[in-house]
This record gives sequence, C-alpha cells and structure tokens, in this order.
Amino acid sequence: MLDIDIVYFSWTGNTKKVAKLIFNELKRDFKVNLIEIKSKNYPYIIWLLLSFIPNIGVKINSVKVNSKVIVICMPKWTFNCPPITSFLKQVNLENKVIYLVITYGGFDEKRYARYYANKIKRKKGIVKDILLIKRSKIDEERIKKFTERIANEVKTDLST
Ligand SMILES: Cc1cc2nc3c(=O)[nH]c(=O)nc-3n(C[C@H](O)[C@H](O)[C@H](O)COP(=O)(O)O)c2cc1C
Repeated sequence: MLDIDIVYFSWTGNTKKVAKLIFNELKRDFKVNLIEIKSKNYPYIIWLLLSFIPNIGVKINSVKVNSKVIVICMPKWTFNCPPITSFLKQVNLENKVIYLVITYGGFDEKRYARYYANKIKRKKGIVKDILLIKRSKIDEERIKKFTERIANEVKTDLST
C-alpha cells in the first residue's frame, strides 16, 4: 500500500485541527504519517515581524518525508511562515505530488497560496490541489471531499 505524508505547522491550533481531520480520513485507505514541524515558541510580535520578511526561516526539527504524496498544511502568515519556509528549504520535493492546505484569518490567502505553490514548483514538486480554509469555517464536509479527491487521485495514479 502507498504511503502518504501529512506535514503541518500550526501555532494556534487551527492547522493542526485540519491536518488531523485529513489524517483521520486518509488513514482509512492508506498508511499515513502525520508529521509536525516544530520550532521555538516565539511570542506573537516576533512571529509577526518574521512573517513580513519573505523567505526567512527559523530553526526547526528534522522532518523526514519518504512518501511520493505529501499533504503540506500551514497557516497564512502575512508574506511568510518561517517554519514552513525552513521545511521547504531542506526537503527534496523532486517528483513528489503535493497537496497544499492553508488556514487563514480572512484576507490575501489566494496570493499567498500562489506564492507557496510556486516555491514548491521551483523545487520540482507537482502541486495537484490547494485547499484554503478560513479559521472561522473549518467545514468538515469540505475537508472530507478534498481528502476523497486525494484518495481517488492517488489510487488512479497507482493503477496507471
Ligand atoms: C504572524 C501571523 C500573521 C498572520 N497573517 C495573516 C494574514 O495575512 N491573512 C490572514 O487571513 N490571516 C493571517 N493570520 C491568521 C492565521 O492565518 C490564522 O489564524 C490561521 O488559521 C492560524 O493557523 P494556526 O492556528 O494553525 O497557527 C496571521 C496569523 C499570525 C500569527
């Protein structure tokens, strides 16, 4: 059976909640690894400052991804989410199939999603789908539909 890695960073818990919902759905059909990106817990003002500096990273735990399919879950932070940026700097995404999931407060999420999708594409990752979830509307049905699409695509890819 094919493996799927779900890699997430979450500071206030919204992305973690979404990552866990995706995990619970996908684990019915696949062996799924739920991997958390961790870093020092900086105060809000420091995160906010760093989020304005594109491409800056922070020290994170070592994150090993071995699956062909990776679901990357992250929050929308101004221009930059440093722990995710660090992860993207260290990981080899060549020919990996990526699903990008972003939770956000309420603005500028589409531009940010394009920016990170391009970062992933420059690392030769194949961005198959993007899910944007507003933190005030963590809709389980929508997440379920998204994971069904992932499951179908992964199964189809397997059989071709
Ligand atoms: C430093 C920082 C910057 C943020 N910038 C934005 C933003 O530009 N647009 C937006 O819609 N939400 C923004 N948010 C809100 C988060 O995207 C939202 O709360 C998200 O769900 C947080 O995910 P988490 O709980 O997994 O950390 C920001 C939050 C933080 C902490």
